[in-house]
Amino acid sequence: MTTRITIRKPDDWHLHVRDNEMLKASLPFTAQKFGRAILMPNLVPPVRTAADADAYRKRAMAVLPKDTTFKPLMTCYLTDDTDPDDVERGFKEGIFTGVKLYPANATTNSAAGVTDYRKIEPVLARMEKIGMRFLIHGEEVDPAVDVFDREAVFIERRLIPMTKKFPGLKIILEHLSSKIGVEYIRSSAPQVGASITPYHLRHNRTDWLGWGNRPYFYCMPVIKTEHDRLALIDAATSGDACFFLGTDSAPHAVAKKLGVVGAAGLFNAPVAIETYAQVFEEQGKLQNLEAFASLNGPRHYGMEPNSETITLEKRDWVAPDEIKVAGPEERALIYRGGEVIPWKVIQS
Ligand code: DOR
Ligand code: ZN
Repeated sequence: MTTRITIRKPDDWHLHVRDNEMLKASLPFTAQKFGRAILMPNLVPPVRTAADADAYRKRAMAVLPKDTTFKPLMTCYLTDDTDPDDVERGFKEGIFTGVKLYPANATTNSAAGVTDYRKIEPVLARMEKIGMRFLIHGEEVDPAVDVFDREAVFIERRLIPMTKKFPGLKIILEHLSSKIGVEYIRSSAPQVGASITPYHLRHNRTDWLGWGNRPYFYCMPVIKTEHDRLALIDAATSGDACFFLGTDSAPHAVAKKLGVVGAAGLFNAPVAIETYAQVFEEQGKLQNLEAFASLNGPRHYGMEPNSETITLEKRDWVAPDEIKVAGPEERALIYRGGEVIPWKVIQS
């Protein structure tokens, strides 16, 4: 039985760390164990321009130790009015790694997202031309579409037409959540790849709603059926190049999670790589963890993998319950807080 595994340092291709005190309290968990992370731009106000992203990157670096080797990668929040010239400038200056599409109102802080897909075509054409990645929250927000079908309908209605119109545009369908999504990614790779979260791998909607309403299982896209979960497990642990790690770790203050309209998102960064290791071990696929966590993502983004390594050991530890956040947000609960986690990072 494998009790210790050393892999190239992983990257998190989908991470929310917010701003100000929440940034300070949450980013160190990722910086300790990951080489790079894509920082999501859904702040209030959103990170819309290269200047916004440059300022946010500096705020992120300021909460980390001076000698950190961690590198935040920045994204541009796409709106109906995003300027292709600013996007190109930000990309060429090394500020932007990609552009992020939120359909308006699909999730947390997405009100300024895209409402008219025709209006974003000049930006997509420019990205295709300069080789810039397109990150997508792939859910259709037409109210006639059932929330469990949002991913499948988005693929049909939005994504497939985009891939046809811009065949050179390299895309990431983020937080893949359905069997239909898995099948689509396999058929559209290498143009389209997908990140997969720890919680879509570990839970189904019965865990979320079957034994009391558990608001800490609520995220977007919503957790789906067991059938979907098994397809995601199979995809993630396959080692196939089109599937890679993206935690979608998304801290929210307790008061926001438990509001009458509760916020979507789970703060999983403190247990993320350990949870993936557990899932891979349970499948007898630990040998594919490195591909998923550390190699497939950089390849899809056209980057080199990290040269450093991380070592995980089969050793029980108890995940902390929460982080304290200075100011009005007060605290955020940690995914799996209080649980015994069977894998531990012993070197990073
Ligand atoms: O559950 C989610 N939370 N899904 C998202 O797409 C956004 C995220 C957040 O920012 O809280
Ligand atoms: Zn997200």
